Amino acid sequence: MCRLQLTYINSLIIRISYDLVFFLRTLTMTTCETLLPYIQWNESMEMGFAELDTQHQLLVRLFNLLVKANCELKDNELTLEQLQLFISHCRMHFAVEESLMRVVGYEDFKEHQLHHQLLIRQILQLQANIEEQLEEPEEQNPEELMAMNSQQLLFLQRWLVKHMINDDPEMMPYFQKAKLRMKYNNADWLEDLWQLD
Ligand SMILES: [Fe+2]
Ligand SMILES: [Fe+2]
Repeated sequence: MCRLQLTYINSLIIRISYDLVFFLRTLTMTTCETLLPYIQWNESMEMGFAELDTQHQLLVRLFNLLVKANCELKDNELTLEQLQLFISHCRMHFAVEESLMRVVGYEDFKEHQLHHQLLIRQILQLQANIEEQLEEPEEQNPEELMAMNSQQLLFLQRWLVKHMINDDPEMMPYFQKAKLRMKYNNADWLEDLWQLD
């Protein structure tokens, strides 16, 4: 079996395992404390384009810090700070990605951009709900004392995994066709991005 097929099967297994956890959480109503929905970085999450892969790794790190603040430290103020950081990085990452998609003439640019915009709207709504809920907590369920519940975290977890494994790699043929450098020197990235020779 060739390396490409193995990578595809590996990504499929990873996607299914995250989907399964999400489905089981819906059935069992497992709390965030027992579930700890961290994302384990895996090489099949790499699309092979250094700038976006680095940004994705940072997104995963920020997401994991959010899970830690909420589910382990149970620090609501820190959770909101981490969520704000996560939103800022998503905005920056999406702006970079959308510029690249436009430049290389990615045909599903509009649809992909809509996914980004929808996620930002959903997280901002989530943030507003959390702020409101923290002002008037309902103490019937232990998860309601935490800023975020496992369902909200699993939604973000699944979105990120799908974004890295399925959605973004679809741009790769366009990057290759436009002769973007897959790896470059970060110190001078703009000049180094294009293969000018
Ligand atoms: Fe994207
Ligand atoms: Fe991305």
